[in-house]
Amino acid sequence: MRSDNKISLLIIEDEDFDVKRIKNTIKLFSGSIDIRKVVSSGADALNALSDSPEDYDLVIMDYQIAGPIRGEELIKKIKEINSVIQIIVVTKLTVNISDFNFAKGLMEAGAYWYCTKYPVDIEEYIYQPTDFLMSIFNAYEKKKLETVTLNSKQRLRKNIEEILEKKKIISVSEPMRILKEEIEKFSQTDLSILISGASGTGKELVANYIHYKSKRKYENLVAINCGSIPGELIESELFGYEKGSFTGASSSKAGLFEVADGGTIFLDEIAELPMAAQVKLLRVIQEGEIEKIGRTKKLRVNVRIIAATNKNLIAEIESGKFREDLFFRLNVIPLHILPLRERRDDIEILIRHFVEFYSLDMGRPVPEIESGSMKKFLEYDWPGNVRELKNVVQRILLRTNDRISSKDVELALMNYSIGIKKTNVFNFDALPAIAPLKDVEKKLKTDYINYVMERSNSQTEAAFKLGVAPPNLVRLLKELGFK
Ligand SMILES: Nc1ncnc2c1ncn2[C@@H]1O[C@H](COP(=O)(O)OP(=O)(O)OP(=O)(O)O)[C@@H](O)[C@H]1O
Ligand SMILES: [Mg+2]
Repeated sequence: MRSDNKISLLIIEDEDFDVKRIKNTIKLFSGSIDIRKVVSSGADALNALSDSPEDYDLVIMDYQIAGPIRGEELIKKIKEINSVIQIIVVTKLTVNISDFNFAKGLMEAGAYWYCTKYPVDIEEYIYQPTDFLMSIFNAYEKKKLETVTLNSKQRLRKNIEEILEKKKIISVSEPMRILKEEIEKFSQTDLSILISGASGTGKELVANYIHYKSKRKYENLVAINCGSIPGELIESELFGYEKGSFTGASSSKAGLFEVADGGTIFLDEIAELPMAAQVKLLRVIQEGEIEKIGRTKKLRVNVRIIAATNKNLIAEIESGKFREDLFFRLNVIPLHILPLRERRDDIEILIRHFVEFYSLDMGRPVPEIESGSMKKFLEYDWPGNVRELKNVVQRILLRTNDRISSKDVELALMNYSIGIKKTNVFNFDALPAIAPLKDVEKKLKTDYINYVMERSNSQTEAAFKLGVAPPNLVRLLKELGFK
């Protein structure tokens, strides 16, 4: 372990005389430079570094060290052990230092810099002291910078791996295998992608997966649901506006395209995009520029577009609701996700996946799925696709313990289809009659929890969104009679 914030050196030098002079040279800076270890061969140096690679910032190495591992080979091996360690090479003057190829060879092998030893009769300083000291301090700055970069890269890589693990597309069916192949192939490109498929088939999941597989993965993924933003606001959301460009624009606002610059924009429910916004979107795709409201100069953006729809866009074009030219621009790579009933091979693996996932999420043992139950799952038509399957599994887990019987499945499937019809938040007409407030409250709560659960990946996530502790949500669900 390192004890302080000093620059920690490993010296590779086999002549005591030279070691002594290095010490002399840095003596004045003993408050900030620490010679942690001195070794006399390349092999010893590699051992010391392998034992504790974090203990050293810099290596000062003699180019003419005795032993088989030396020179450029030694530099490469040190960098393999710890890529952020900086190496300063010292050489006798016998090496022709003006030889450009010599210096080039050292740098290419991974050295930070090199210094020459002065003739031995200069007692006090064996190296030209200012150059030598400057290179130590500069190399240390470089090491710190490289460490920060490396750490953040590792953190990002780890995050992306975690995200991809969460966004895994679970499937075994042949159509999905082909689709996944396409996804792998096209995620690496910048081509626009149009994902189509019925509700709950996994369009958003696929869009996310593509972004985190692409070279834009460290940049923003901005998702916008074109159907949920009022028509008159959508342009300012997408393209932004300048301060004072209209009454009420008291400050300027970046549009989502600007936020997504360098990354990906996911235009969900693209069929709902109003005509005026369709024209502007087409221009962005054609010219790579956005027109911010109230700004005369166009803004260049570099955004990859993924759009999704559960509507048949060709029919939308025919009825004059969607621009044909925009369709062709978006539909460069069409990806279609089949409904679950047309790829029944996926049902079993999805059921098993979600049963295991939610059991672990709830901190309970994974129940056994009786064979009769699996049959029921497999026979069902899944009109709500994977989303429905996921919700049904959650419901079943709420009322079962160590096994899932076919009765449990039957009940859950029945309740689910009734539940869908009833789910109509704030639709008071859906109440059987004018009712006491406490009954209305119960209905609203039930519908709202349903609504949030259907938009959450786990019960824990739903609990956090609802601002209740996860165990309290379980209790609440039971009280409200969730089946
Ligand atoms: N193959 C799959 N593997 C794992 N999870 C999946 C799969 N397909 C869908 N899901 C999950 O099912 C839910 C619904 O998927 P998603 O939101 O992507 O559907 P969608 O096609 O966008 O639906 P909608 O048209 O209603 O917006 C999500 O929680 C998603 O993670
Ligand atoms: Mg969606």
